[in-house]
Amino acid sequence: MWRHLNRGGALLGSALAWNNGVQKTPAMGFNTWNRYACNINETLVRETANQMKNMGFLAAGYNYINIDDCWNTKTRDSSGRLVVDATKFPSGMKNLTDFLHGLGFKAGIYEDQGLTTCAGFAGSLNHELTDARTFVEWGFDYVKIDNCDSGSFQGTNAQRFKRWTDALTQVQAETGKMLFYSLVEWQSFDAWDWAPHIANSWRIYDDIQANWFRITQILNNASFIGDYSNFYAHNDLDMLENGNGALTLAEQRSHFTAWALAKSPLLIGTDISKLSQDSVDILTNPEIIAINQDTVIGEPLKPFFWGKNPDGTWDPSFPAQYWSGYWKDHKHTAVMYINFNERTVDLNFTFSHSPHLRAHKKYAVRDLWKHEDKGVFGNFFFDGSIPSHDVRAYIFTEQP
Ligand code: GLA
Repeated sequence: MWRHLNRGGALLGSALAWNNGVQKTPAMGFNTWNRYACNINETLVRETANQMKNMGFLAAGYNYINIDDCWNTKTRDSSGRLVVDATKFPSGMKNLTDFLHGLGFKAGIYEDQGLTTCAGFAGSLNHELTDARTFVEWGFDYVKIDNCDSGSFQGTNAQRFKRWTDALTQVQAETGKMLFYSLVEWQSFDAWDWAPHIANSWRIYDDIQANWFRITQILNNASFIGDYSNFYAHNDLDMLENGNGALTLAEQRSHFTAWALAKSPLLIGTDISKLSQDSVDILTNPEIIAINQDTVIGEPLKPFFWGKNPDGTWDPSFPAQYWSGYWKDHKHTAVMYINFNERTVDLNFTFSHSPHLRAHKKYAVRDLWKHEDKGVFGNFFFDGSIPSHDVRAYIFTEQP
């Protein structure tokens, strides 16, 4: 089954992706939902943006500040336009996007392709063009379109979400401005089949939670659909939970590395001011971000060896362990290993297992978390003592 998915996806993901010119590599930034849910306001957004800049996140590549659900009211105004909740955003959205742009960020907003948003505010179904015009007028650069309360729509999910693609295309013709289009679909869990043609990113699973099992569930799903993701059109594994819940540093490292190397959007969803320096260092690791933001190779890393399970096994609590993909050119190969065991183990694999390594070549290996060169290896690779739930990521550079 997974082999079939992978083959079909190669065409969908690369040749026919919707290239709207907005964002070639995965989006990086911040989103309010995971940490704040409906407790949002303009002060929080401004303070977060200031912190993202002062703490080095903007410089590391996190340049979107996205407002999620709960910014609007339950009804539209007399001309059918969305209304900002003036108690939460008294200065209005244009003021806020001007502020964000002034700091060097782009700005994102949320709506829902149903009658109401997931939190019960006015939704956008049948108002797409009006809302796309409004968001462009307010200065937004990015829109996330959610999936709640859509049962009344007669048609497929692809048709429902394409109404936003059409609205954005029309508003681009009117104004010259195109928005990044992020969509959320979780009824049929097949967005990767149709969304690459109509959006820049699409969710692949239920909402993330700040626990290890939900992370392995999402990653297991992602491991089978890597071929659908490429430049301008990415599988969205959902927003990051680093800093939330009881994720250990090892788990935070694995979560971040897996999301980055699966070429998912990287949207931080925590209280930035409370992040430990260790968590900041994880989220800003330049050697990991460089793979996520590669402008030459669009394909994500994909599993080449499941490890404990036989290759091709569907296992939501123990996904594929060994992943590889090219980086920058075909002489550099990124390799990721995650230890899903509950104990410390060693890792090893033979080069012939990976389609991205040449079995008879030698490779210089760099460890992207220890930031050190490990030496030159041939035929197979070994590394010792990987703690439970921790990750290793390497660049293999082919030797002449
Ligand atoms: C859904 C989405 C989340 C978030 C909430 C807001 O659950 O999947 O990412 O946007 O709605 O209500």
